[in-house]
Amino acid sequence: MEESMKGLQRSCRCGELGVEDIGRTVTVMGWVQKQRNKGGIIFVDLRDRAGIVQVIFEEADCGQENFEKAEKLRSEFVAAVVGKVEARSGAVNENLATGRIEIRASQVRVLSQAQTPPFPIEEDVKTKEELRLKYRYLDLRRPDLQRNLALRSKMTNSIRAFLCREGFLEIETPILNKSTPEGARDYLVPSRVHPGCFYALPQSPQIFKQLLMCSGYDRYFQIAKCFRDEDLRADRQPEFTQIDLEMSFVDVDDVIDATERMVAQVCREAAGLEVPLPMPRITWQEAMDRFGTDKPDTRFGMELVDVSGVVEGCGFGVFTGALEEGGTVRGINARGQGEMPRKKIDALVEFARGYGAKGLAYISVQADGSCKSSFAKFMTPEQTGTLVEAMGGEPGDLLLFAADKKKLVLSVLGALRVELGKQMGLADPEKYNFLWVTEFPQFEWNEEEERFVAEHHPFTMPMEEDLELLEKEPGRVRAKAYDIVLNGVELGGGSVRIFQSQVQERMFEALGFTKEKAYSQFGFLLEAFKYGVPPHAGLAIGLDRFVMLMAGVDNIREVIAFPKVKDASCLMSDAPGTVDPGQLEELHLTLRS
Ligand code: AMO
Ligand code: AMP
Repeated sequence: MEESMKGLQRSCRCGELGVEDIGRTVTVMGWVQKQRNKGGIIFVDLRDRAGIVQVIFEEADCGQENFEKAEKLRSEFVAAVVGKVEARSGAVNENLATGRIEIRASQVRVLSQAQTPPFPIEEDVKTKEELRLKYRYLDLRRPDLQRNLALRSKMTNSIRAFLCREGFLEIETPILNKSTPEGARDYLVPSRVHPGCFYALPQSPQIFKQLLMCSGYDRYFQIAKCFRDEDLRADRQPEFTQIDLEMSFVDVDDVIDATERMVAQVCREAAGLEVPLPMPRITWQEAMDRFGTDKPDTRFGMELVDVSGVVEGCGFGVFTGALEEGGTVRGINARGQGEMPRKKIDALVEFARGYGAKGLAYISVQADGSCKSSFAKFMTPEQTGTLVEAMGGEPGDLLLFAADKKKLVLSVLGALRVELGKQMGLADPEKYNFLWVTEFPQFEWNEEEERFVAEHHPFTMPMEEDLELLEKEPGRVRAKAYDIVLNGVELGGGSVRIFQSQVQERMFEALGFTKEKAYSQFGFLLEAFKYGVPPHAGLAIGLDRFVMLMAGVDNIREVIAFPKVKDASCLMSDAPGTVDPGQLEELHLTLRS
């Protein structure tokens, strides 16, 4: 029998009770975690989002009817309990915030019965994620997810408060937009009223926030839903949330300063973490040379070393061949890994191949200083010795080398460094290393399309001193673009925008846009720029990633209430789904069979 809560009012949450409440009569409501019947006495653990409290039923206190109801309570039943808070009669439970007290029940009502859930509702369940996602509403009852979502709410509030205090206006921008096929793939929505026409969901509010700057809203922000139809990974979802902001009459330093103060406040308020300011900054070039990536995890060293000069003219064809073709030879030193078994080294070689390497050469420096190497026979002992020295190799170290085109070598060693860091446990999980990476290249060469594409987006301002290279040597132009990185994850990024139409036109030309194409895609922005546009800049931080890192989890699904899986479907609702033929017809669509 399910009862109503008529006449009862919840007085507090289960998990909020403590010794200071002893003597109070309280009314709590929640889910039954566990019921234990010890004959004349029944213990019920009652759970809500604040935690668990132990309720004790004895017929002498609650009468026969209530006692019989307590006997019938099962896991996940929803119950209301009225009772008096007392000091624990049995052993104190130090693992529970409410472990020093219990509620002696005088009344219980069964508000809802429950089937046995498909997995236990408790911390750190080992249940397969597919099952958890199918029953997400049950998964969300677990304390870990409740903590993560509470943290997310706290962080969002802290961000909002900070930005409002700093004079930013929160403004919403449209979800139904025109497709601007630059960047990731768009999600499209067919129009009923305009046959054959489609809206695109925003990949970011980029163009709108720039228009808001033209309209004089000199500081804008939005907690914005963004949609990108791209391959999913641990830190990517098809719909995700950005803390999106834009400022007028500012340059790089102003955006960086506002952002890092915001981040520091959020870390302090939501996680009790003090972030030293200013955050360190390095240029993109330095990040690539030292770490092989534009999002370095600086919690550990193992930096890349360029040994091209050292191996020049040596007898090892793999090295000299790469150099002759204009490539590079670089290495990393996995300290103390000299004894790594062959099988494990082979696995590293395979790992490197996965990133496109043709191979991975290695030297393990033995305890007596002698060297075991995959290419020793091609080098004199002196040459090997010089190479070891250049790598700072000590007895017991494992030196790994890649030889190829520079871009490939950096990406292989960058990934290998992270992988080894993981295997060797080098990154301190207690450390939060924020880092700005600045002066990104303006363009990236797209091999398939054989043209330059924007590394960030086509509205990013080049560095003044590189403007003259725009036509001559686009590959060398650096942008006023910056990323904020935390422990090897790209947290956010932004740029100073182009606000002069001549520069924008030159940019489109460099990107291979005709004037017509530029106007057909971004016409309203270019038009707006003719009516007085302030210099402006901004950035967006991935909220999901930020919460993921602060929650100490390794997948953004753990901080999103209803996430999607790798193939962009929702296992709970089965989205996406087919639709009625009538709906298709209304939208002027026919499906290819
Ligand atoms: P960008 O494309 O770098 O910049 O995105 C900003 C941040 O958004 C997060 N992010 C994602 N998070 C989860 N899933 C995804 N699929 C995903 N894609 C991106 C990342 C990223 O750093 N308009 C510009 C910002 C600007 O210039 O102001 C933009 O969108 O954390
Ligand atoms: P090989 O003579 O091709 O057997 O190569 C000798 C060693 O060099 C092996 O350990 C290979 O894995 C390694 N190797 C091959 N190609 C490369 C490369 N491009 N960069 C670094 N090492 C390589």
